[in-house]
Amino acid sequence: MQDFAAVRSEMGEFWNIRSGLEESVKGFFSAPPEADVVLESLIPEKDFNTAGKGSAEVKNLLKRLGVDPEVLRRVAVAAYEAEINVAAHSRGGMMDSYIHSDLIHVVFRDKGPGIADIAQAMVPGFSTADDMVREMGFGAGLGLPNIQKNADALHITSSAGGSTVLEFLIYFANNER
Ligand SMILES: Nc1ncnc2c1ncn2[C@@H]1O[C@H](COP(=O)(O)OP(=O)(O)OP(=O)(O)O)[C@@H](O)[C@H]1O
Ligand SMILES: [Mg+2]
Repeated sequence: MQDFAAVRSEMGEFWNIRSGLEESVKGFFSAPPEADVVLESLIPEKDFNTAGKGSAEVKNLLKRLGVDPEVLRRVAVAAYEAEINVAAHSRGGMMDSYIHSDLIHVVFRDKGPGIADIAQAMVPGFSTADDMVREMGFGAGLGLPNIQKNADALHITSSAGGSTVLEFLIYFANNER
């Protein structure tokens, strides 16, 4: 029991919901409806060519579906930043996109090593990117704040040594003020 409690206490969670959308977002997560289309893509560790393919695929599909260009841009930016984070900071993972008639729900699951302090990771400018990642042009510490800015809802769970799950929702009706 004690070990379980110790593990639980290290688990971090972060929520950000765009103001005015709290009820819709809570409704969605309390009983997620079945998606119309599901897209899956692998994100291998430190592979910055493959990371980016999932977000490009989603962008192309939403474009064909006639989603508002500004909403499309927000989905593409949030998904790209999250994909790059999995490639840059984890041992690799998966991106699953669930497309509904009124919104997109994108979930990123990786193989760890997790984020010890999510609140700190959310601070603009905070980065633990290594030299290789910085040489690729990443590591400004702006990806997570950018995902928060573009998503209507952002949810992150993680723990030091465990895996990270980041998911966001973006409604197709333009909710950005
Ligand atoms: N999937 C993840 N696994 C482990 N740590 C992560 C993950 N995603 C983000 N982090 C941590 O959060 C920090 C901040 O992430 P953020 O995307 O804001 O900045 P960055 O990736 O370092 O730089 P930038 O996104 O500007 O290129 C990262 O440096 C890393 O320490
Ligand atoms: Mg980043």
